[in-house]
Amino acid sequence: MMDYSAQLKTAEAAAREAGLFLKTNFYRSKEVASSSAHDLKLRLDTETQELIVARLRRDFPEYAVLGEEGSCGGDKNAPLWVIDPIDGTVNYFYGIPLYCVSIALSVNGSFVLGCVYDPMQDECFSACVGGPALLNGKAICVSARTQMRDAVVFIGHGTHDKSGSAGVARFAHLSAQVKKIRILGTAALTLCYIAAGRFDAYVENRINLWDFAAARVILEAAGGSVEYTPSDAAPHSGAIIAWNGRIPIHQALQMP
Ligand code: IPD
Ligand code: CA
Repeated sequence: MMDYSAQLKTAEAAAREAGLFLKTNFYRSKEVASSSAHDLKLRLDTETQELIVARLRRDFPEYAVLGEEGSCGGDKNAPLWVIDPIDGTVNYFYGIPLYCVSIALSVNGSFVLGCVYDPMQDECFSACVGGPALLNGKAICVSARTQMRDAVVFIGHGTHDKSGSAGVARFAHLSAQVKKIRILGTAALTLCYIAAGRFDAYVENRINLWDFAAARVILEAAGGSVEYTPSDAAPHSGAIIAWNGRIPIHQALQMP
C-alpha cells in the first residue's frame, strides 16, 4: 500500500490554516455572495478555498483541485484534491459554531485520505486508507450500538426542495424508532461524529462529493459503512446512507 502520510500532513496544515482564518472571521459581519431559497454563499467561501489551494500547491504543485468554489490545475491523471472550504456555510453565517474545513485526496479514482477540521472545537479528524481513523492524533472508532432504539441519527434536510421534503418524511418515520434525531447542518462533521461514536447514522437524499469525500475515508477507517448513490440531476452529487455498520438502518428506513 502507498504511503500518503506526507499528503495528509499537508492537508492537515491547509485545513488548520483555513480553520484559523474562518474562526478569526466568525464573529465579524460576512458578505453574502449569493443566496437561494435554502442556501447561501459567502465571499469567505471563495477566499478560504483560495487559501487552501495555495497551501496545497506549495507542497504538491502538480495536483489538480475539485472544490465547491471551483476547480483548477493538473492533467486528468493527476491526483485530485477534493475540497469544501466551509461545510456548514449557513451555520457559519448565522453564527452557529458548527462548521468545518474538508479536504480529501483521490488517486487513480480512489480516495486515499481525508482530513476534516472543526476550528471552534479544535478537533481535527483524519485518516489514510488502510490506517487508523484519528481525532487530534488519537484513534477513534464507531459506536458499539446495535439497536435503533439506542441510536442517535442525523437526517439531512438538504438544499434542494425534494431532498428537503424527503428529509421531513424520514424525520417523522424514524423519530419514533430512535433515541434522538439530530440535524447539525454539516455533513462532513456528522460523518466524523459517527466515526467517533457520537452518532450512529446519517441519511440524506442529495449531497455533494466535497461535502463527504474526506469524512467518508475517516468513517470507513473507523469501522463504519457508507453507501453513496450518484444522482443524474447534477454532477458530483448523490444520496448517502452512512452508519456505524451495526444498527439496522436500511430496515428502519423502509416506509410502510
Ligand atoms: C451543506 C451541509 C449540510 C447538507 C447540505 C450541504 P455546505 O454543505 O453539508 O449539512 O445538508 O446538503 O450542501 O453548503 O454548507 O457546504
Ligand atoms: Ca461548502
